[in-house]
Amino acid sequence: MARFHPKHTFSTKIITIIFLSLSTFIAIAFIGNHIFHSSAHLSVTSNWLDIPYNTTITPPPHKQHVVKNKTPQRFLSATFADLPAPQWNWEQMDSAPVPRLDGYAIQIQNLFYVFSGYANLDHVHSHVDVFDFRSNEWVDKFDTPKEMAHSHLGVATDRRYIYIVSGQYGPQCRGPISTVFVLDTKTKKWDHLPPLPFPRYAPATQLWRGRLHVMGGGKENRHTPALDHWSLAVKDGKALEKQWRTEIPIPRGGPHRACIVVNDHLYVIGGQEGDFMPKPGSPIFKCSRRHEVVYGDVYMLDDEMKWKVLPPMPKPNSHIECAWVIVNNSIIITGGTTEKHPVTKRMMLVGEVFQFNLDSMKWSVIGKLPYRVKTTLAGFWDGWLYFTSGQRDRGPDNPQPRKVVGETWRTKLCLS
Ligand SMILES: *[C@@H]1O[C@H](CO)[C@@H](O)[C@H](O)[C@H]1NC(C)=O
Ligand SMILES: *[C@@H]1O[C@H](CO)[C@@H](O)[C@H](O)[C@H]1NC(C)=O
Repeated sequence: MARFHPKHTFSTKIITIIFLSLSTFIAIAFIGNHIFHSSAHLSVTSNWLDIPYNTTITPPPHKQHVVKNKTPQRFLSATFADLPAPQWNWEQMDSAPVPRLDGYAIQIQNLFYVFSGYANLDHVHSHVDVFDFRSNEWVDKFDTPKEMAHSHLGVATDRRYIYIVSGQYGPQCRGPISTVFVLDTKTKKWDHLPPLPFPRYAPATQLWRGRLHVMGGGKENRHTPALDHWSLAVKDGKALEKQWRTEIPIPRGGPHRACIVVNDHLYVIGGQEGDFMPKPGSPIFKCSRRHEVVYGDVYMLDDEMKWKVLPPMPKPNSHIECAWVIVNNSIIITGGTTEKHPVTKRMMLVGEVFQFNLDSMKWSVIGKLPYRVKTTLAGFWDGWLYFTSGQRDRGPDNPQPRKVVGETWRTKLCLS
């Protein structure tokens, strides 16, 4: 009956045992390496501002040694990523009522609606502040729905209704939810729309040809880039369909990108793959740093509904979801965060203003902000470029993130 000779079975067993021991060994080695690797990346300090945004991760001594030995002559200034740019004169306006990191903003004519965000890593906002570009004052404040996410949202507007998609619910590095809200800015009433098929962190979101498009973002674990792209027909704050439709996936995934519709084309600009994750077992979902890749890729959709690749930004740039305005057929982007310093591995913020001219499809660096800053919220009114909020650098010589601010600034914009 036995199909195999006993001896054969025996040797098969031995081979199986050897194989199992070998894979156990490999698995242990892998886990060990992984734990070592992670611990090198976890920087847990008591100051909330320092996690995760102060990334003073002192490399283990032997690593520093390796770096020194390998490149003894090498000196790379902390500010090497800054690009030459004209100094601009900025005028400081009234600060937002609260400091805000990872906030979101929508401009509807002279009113600038600023949503949610972190006050610090342990506290998130659940309200909207409103700035009036006519009077240059913060004029209104109202609550967001209790079930709405607080950061990593997707936002879009039709100039009356503001659609707010998915995002992270709660402080630190908590989980995402798939709920979708709509705000009628005339009545300040909130309503629900069908939830996204899956929750996402900071997906690229925009209204285009009567449909709310949501693509990319981070998956449920906060780190894995999503490529999915969905859309929902909407009109006057109502969904015209019961569920989201699957669209052509985006070539590269990840959160914190600018998503813009102009001249009936949809652009997705910059972003990153990977993000901080909750520390395993942490009851407060404490953020811990993970490997990230920041990129400057630009993708565009038109009638063909096939992604086209356009020239990338002058440098990799992320956390720019609401850091853009459209002026005279150009996209203007203020600040952001770029690739980590190759030697120190520290995070570096961006202090430049970029222009993407849609006539020539060319990028240029047109000016400097008063400081480097990420997740800033930009608006344009009557010739003035405004920005408010975000997390700024440590000073002119130190591009690492530090203070979460609510400062508001403006400058006269003059595009050539
Ligand atoms: C980050 O935090 C550490 C510990 O609080 C502090 O010593 C250091 O100065 C901060 N980071 C940077 C980059 O300066
Ligand atoms: C946009 O173009 C108009 C008309 O050419 C010009 O008057 C205006 O100054 C331009 N705006 C900016 C911000 O450069």
